[in-house]
Amino acid sequence: MSESADAPALDLAAFPAGFTWGTATSAYQIEGAVAEDGRAPSIWDTFSRVPGAVDGGDHGDTACDHYHRWPEDVALMRTLGTDAYRLSVAWPRVLPFGDGRVNGPGLDFYDRLVDGLLEAGITPSVTLYHWDLPQALQDRGGWNERGTAEALAGYASAVAGRLGDRVTQWATLNEPLCSAWIGHLEGRMAPGLTDLPTAVRASYHLLLAHGLAVQAVRAAVPGAQVGLVTNHSTVEPASTRPEDLAAAARMDGHTNRWWLDPVYGRGFPADMRELYGVELPERPGDLETIAAPLDWHGLNYYFPVTVEDDPGGPVPHAREVRLADVPRTYMDWQVDAGGLEALLMRLTDDYGVSRLYVTENGSAYPDAVGPDGAVHDPERTAYLEGHLAACARAVRKGAPLAGYYAWSLLDNFEWAYGYDKRFGLVHVDYETQKRTVKTSGRRYAEIIRAHREAQA
Ligand code: FCB
Repeated sequence: MSESADAPALDLAAFPAGFTWGTATSAYQIEGAVAEDGRAPSIWDTFSRVPGAVDGGDHGDTACDHYHRWPEDVALMRTLGTDAYRLSVAWPRVLPFGDGRVNGPGLDFYDRLVDGLLEAGITPSVTLYHWDLPQALQDRGGWNERGTAEALAGYASAVAGRLGDRVTQWATLNEPLCSAWIGHLEGRMAPGLTDLPTAVRASYHLLLAHGLAVQAVRAAVPGAQVGLVTNHSTVEPASTRPEDLAAAARMDGHTNRWWLDPVYGRGFPADMRELYGVELPERPGDLETIAAPLDWHGLNYYFPVTVEDDPGGPVPHAREVRLADVPRTYMDWQVDAGGLEALLMRLTDDYGVSRLYVTENGSAYPDAVGPDGAVHDPERTAYLEGHLAACARAVRKGAPLAGYYAWSLLDNFEWAYGYDKRFGLVHVDYETQKRTVKTSGRRYAEIIRAHREAQA
């Protein structure tokens, strides 16, 4: 195998037979066709129009034009040799008005896509909510309102009712942390709010929506495998000062425990409830709904964080410290594969997760098509190899890891960073929509093939 010089050896034999090798995308980041077949605006259509909200004034109007080019994209998945594809369904295509009225042509798109994937031998894993809330629901208060959680369950029933005869892998939400904290507290993502009480209520309603959607999918699809996708970081204190240790504990609460404790039956962490000082909109039975046993958990991992005490700063009063002399991606995110291993073990050992997937992991670098027509991306290749090696170590230590989905199949609309940040294993020329498999994509294909051959 052609390991790059500084990458740790990849212990492929650690991955069990039947391990799922996939890629991931999300609807708003790739589809384009924002006004076609009855789709209405989402909060991201609105937010991307706010001056200064997105780098370069970019938006998802065309993106990768996947809505029209999906057959070519499915063919690319075949080239990579992946077994599975994690996609998200756009809520504003299916229920454009945020009420019960289903838009048939919107659902038809996913029907065609699912059939196309299955014909290509690729298993679809469907995420219901990857951040594109119908604007109509935002206009009625969005995630600040309990009604939005109930609406997600209705939407889940509509999608599962239509696709459930062919799709068994379901995720309710993608990264509720980003929806709540980045969208409602930091204001760097749609809907662009900066209000702690709203953010805390949003976090609660998102987790409630997750629990209600678990019920809705299970009611519509007997035998459905339902999970939740959360993103996490390992958190290190910048020093051994007690203040920094406490800051790290708060950041861990904000980033990790707030999202995992309630889902795994421990309720919302008391220290964080006290820190936020916001009354939760709890009703009897909610905690049980939120803690419905899951079939699997999806971990999205990109980077670790190091923090110091920041008493005057925003909640959780922990300021990120930028370490010098550590490898970083073009997002300025620190590269640390050990963080992935640690989080897989935490989900296994502390939370007792019985089936795990890495549902996203990847890196952005400023790629370009070279004179030879190829895209050489050695840093992304090393990132991929390093993080797969970390997965293998976790599996050896007992993590029930059943699959890995690389983020992302294609370069795409990287939210507030626009199109400048490229995460794809496949390069997209946005002028021509030409796709070019990068060297990292070829390497991924080689790894998948090697693993498969070793099983045969
Ligand atoms: C995650 C998102 C995904 C993508 C990656 C880079 O937070 O789930 O859509 O933007 O980051």
